[in-house]
Amino acid sequence: MRVLGIETSCDETGVAVYDTDRGLLAHALFSQISLHAQYGGVVPELASRDHVRKLLPLVRQVLAEAGLAPADLDGVAYTAGPGLVGALMVGAATGRALAWALDRPAVGVHHMEGHLLAPLLEDPGLKPPFVALLVSGGHTQLVEVAAVGEYRLLGETLDDAAGEAFDKTAKMMGLPYPGGPELARLAESGRPGLFSFSRPMTDRPGLDFSFSGLKTQVLLAWQGSDQTPETRADIARGFEDAVVETLAIKCQRALDQTGARTLVVAGGVGANARLRERLQALAEKRDARVCFPRPAFCTDNGAMIAFAGALRLMAGQHEAAVVTVTPRWDM
Ligand code: KG4
Ligand code: ZN
Repeated sequence: MRVLGIETSCDETGVAVYDTDRGLLAHALFSQISLHAQYGGVVPELASRDHVRKLLPLVRQVLAEAGLAPADLDGVAYTAGPGLVGALMVGAATGRALAWALDRPAVGVHHMEGHLLAPLLEDPGLKPPFVALLVSGGHTQLVEVAAVGEYRLLGETLDDAAGEAFDKTAKMMGLPYPGGPELARLAESGRPGLFSFSRPMTDRPGLDFSFSGLKTQVLLAWQGSDQTPETRADIARGFEDAVVETLAIKCQRALDQTGARTLVVAGGVGANARLRERLQALAEKRDARVCFPRPAFCTDNGAMIAFAGALRLMAGQHEAAVVTVTPRWDM
């Protein structure tokens, strides 16, 4: 089965074709970063308009790269939520219209299920059960995955998501949008241990997170410092170490609690090199396995939606031809 995947939940237009026999045939991504950078964050209306401009050219490009005609597709999957409502509507309307014109089934995919299943895209040997750490700009969750479609929430953030904390902290220290990757880059030259921030909620049992207090600690440290580039890098390093260590402690707990031997990491913060290193070390120590998608499939992309959609369509799930999206949606 060959499935076209469309991702338009935020500020990236992602398109891909996944073949259930041959794997990923082609994928393409257009990032709107430069469009939103001057505003310091995503402007929803501009995001929707740019998806309208970029989506069909990307669909044509991906089909050409895969060597397929539209009629060679067996189904269409699109992100139906959560996300920005206008942006989601562009992907949903386009996906539905294509499917209707081709007389193929279409399925709306949960964006976070796309992230959660992304590690399986390129690793056919990876199968549930496992524990997934989902760390994106909007979510921070630990999920027990018994089977595809069988998810149990173990813990989640009570306030800011980890990616959101990265972005807000970066902005506070004057780094350009999008701040997360920029702050991580800066932390590489920062010295460890000069600024030490707390590991929130690790001193009590449970698997929930809270990152908003950490952001405030960083703000106070930054305002009270000499604000030189070196100090900014040292603070960035202290912040990154605190987030990474907090996530690692909770992952370890989740593995203990569930008895799982495999940890899967997904979502934009999963691209963070220090987090990858730290969780790798944790897994080695416990004789467990940790799996990450390649960094390009950690952040938003069409491939994860094509893949998750293909699994759903193969299981016989698709919806009637109505264009609906769900901007707020629990997995
Ligand atoms: O999954 P994603 O692309 O979009 C959402 O669904 O939210 O995640 C984006 C988030 C942003 O908050 C971004 O700052 C963060 O992932 N991010 C990173 C890194 N790359 C992306 N955070 C820390 N280190 C990185 N290298
Ligand atoms: Zn995402």
